[in-house]
Amino acid sequence: MRKPIIAGNWKMFKTRDEALQFVYNINMKLPSKSLVESVICAQAPILRDLVKRQGDNLRVGAQNMHYLDSGAYTGEVSVLLLEDIGVEYVVIGHSERRAYYNETDSSVNKKVHQAFRYGLTPILCVGESLEIRETEKTNEFIKVQVVNALKGLGTEQIKELVLAYEPIWAIGTGKTATAEMANDTIKAIREVVRDLFDEETAESVRIQYGGSVKPANIEELLSMSDIDGALVGGASLDPASFLELVNAAVK
Ligand code: 13P
Repeated sequence: MRKPIIAGNWKMFKTRDEALQFVYNINMKLPSKSLVESVICAQAPILRDLVKRQGDNLRVGAQNMHYLDSGAYTGEVSVLLLEDIGVEYVVIGHSERRAYYNETDSSVNKKVHQAFRYGLTPILCVGESLEIRETEKTNEFIKVQVVNALKGLGTEQIKELVLAYEPIWAIGTGKTATAEMANDTIKAIREVVRDLFDEETAESVRIQYGGSVKPANIEELLSMSDIDGALVGGASLDPASFLELVNAAVK
């Protein structure tokens, strides 16, 4: 049994006060972490405050980090600092970072290794553009992303990893992939993991869906055979909505 994981990706939203108020609102109401992993990925400057206030059932993630320990990289965040302040997850290779900040399959792979080196759990994002979806090249495109991102990792690491399938055309657009479509692509991703590693590893790795997930569609998505959770942007910003999402995962 794969434990569901619901992660809010707050992107570049929320002030410190807003973020702390959110955590205060949800902390006592979250379901047990033995049933579902609830994670909030916030902007770097407030991660320490969030970790300090995370209750038993909430965990904190970063949205990006560098693949080197330290150096002359103005504006970047080191995993050493993330580990030091108690951050446990890090989103790697989000399509917005691939599109706007030159994130490549190669840098994504280095970042996944770097996260594991310091004990953080990577939430590794893959996903196709509308053009790729419409020309029916989704599976081959995603296969390349997954193979490149997982280069050099061992089975124990793959079992710890969280993959997130986020079709770019469904992000922030209100267009969700149908549950069947999302499940079919996630199955194809699991197949890639099976080919690269083995059956047990493929059955263990958790794969989230992301792209316009909301309280109204989460139950259907999570009812599918291969969808193990969600990576949620807009609908994770409101405490009541985030609680609905995590509660759907324990039904
Ligand atoms: P939305 O849920 O706002 O579509 O964002 C999805 C996403 O990019 C999560 O990482």
